[in-house]
Amino acid sequence: MAGGTTGADGTISTVGVVGLGTMGAGIAEVFARNGVEVVAVEITAEALERGRATLTRSTDRAVARGRLTGADRDALLGRITFAVGLPALAEVDLVIEAVPERLDLKRRLFADLDRICRPAAILASNTSSLSVTEIAVATGRPDRVVGMHFFNPAPVMKLVEVIRTVTTATEVVGAVQDLCARLGKVAVTVADRAGFVANALLFGYLNQAVAMVESGYATREEIDAAMRLGCGLPMGPLTLLDLIGLDTAYEILDTMYRRGGRDRRHAPVPLLRQMVTAGLLGRKSGQGFYRYERPGSGTVA
Ligand code: 3HC
Repeated sequence: MAGGTTGADGTISTVGVVGLGTMGAGIAEVFARNGVEVVAVEITAEALERGRATLTRSTDRAVARGRLTGADRDALLGRITFAVGLPALAEVDLVIEAVPERLDLKRRLFADLDRICRPAAILASNTSSLSVTEIAVATGRPDRVVGMHFFNPAPVMKLVEVIRTVTTATEVVGAVQDLCARLGKVAVTVADRAGFVANALLFGYLNQAVAMVESGYATREEIDAAMRLGCGLPMGPLTLLDLIGLDTAYEILDTMYRRGGRDRRHAPVPLLRQMVTAGLLGRKSGQGFYRYERPGSGTVA
């Protein structure tokens, strides 16, 4: 793979993605689709193969729908180098982390990235609710650490929240904003507070929808239809929770509840926890509020 040096104009040409779950695979696709060389990293060969399969499925679907030619799909995948282990990230310009939402895990990862990556590299987190500041101070370069919060599905949703901490350098924020524009995304730059803007507003509403199901106030279909047809949203809240993943939603709510001054709106409704414990995680497990034809599919059975 070529490069790894930030161009004289500060252009980011090579990006590392750590963690190839739903979000990481989608983020890698967005970069590669827009001409950026990607090093996609997982910690085991099995996880790497799962990530590669997610990317292949998604790009094949784009070809089948006529959104991408076969040649463009091949070029896109050709821009991605798959690797096990962080040393493969030594030369990239920017790393974006998309590993599970655990502060200890992210802090350890950023300390490792700080040792491995070039001093000029930018380290970005896709965290949806954790403190970017607490992640940044695990490194010796907190001025080059920033949040880059993508939305699910990453190839489709236009927003990236850019999280600027009190230590993030202005030039780093500018470079990440420029990168978002190159990806065809709209960057909204926000300070480091629990849930940033979108999740801070969205998750109280999603939690309330689960409370309505739990209390028997309305059925899942009625709740979803009310918000889709009455408020013009593309998905009702329970369909959206199945897309996000109930485990992810639970973690986000729990973190926002603890970080955001124990606001009752964000106290996870017991039904949500019970569903996570029972493995009813949404689309990814094949059942959440709805049952899906197969795990990972969006088609309700
Ligand atoms: N990956 C790639 N592309 C996808 C996709 C996926 N997972 N899902 C859908 N698409 C594409 C389709 O291929 C299609 O593209 P085309 O029109 O060019 O063929 C387009 O998106 C529309 O898809 P569909 O026609 O199949 O379905 P919909 O019209 O119902 O759109 C949706 C699907 C884009 C997911 C839409 O329902 C939507 O916008 N839902 C709300 C999603 C949302 O709110 N996301 C934010 C969640 S919160 C979050 O992510 C924060 C995090 O911290 C948890």
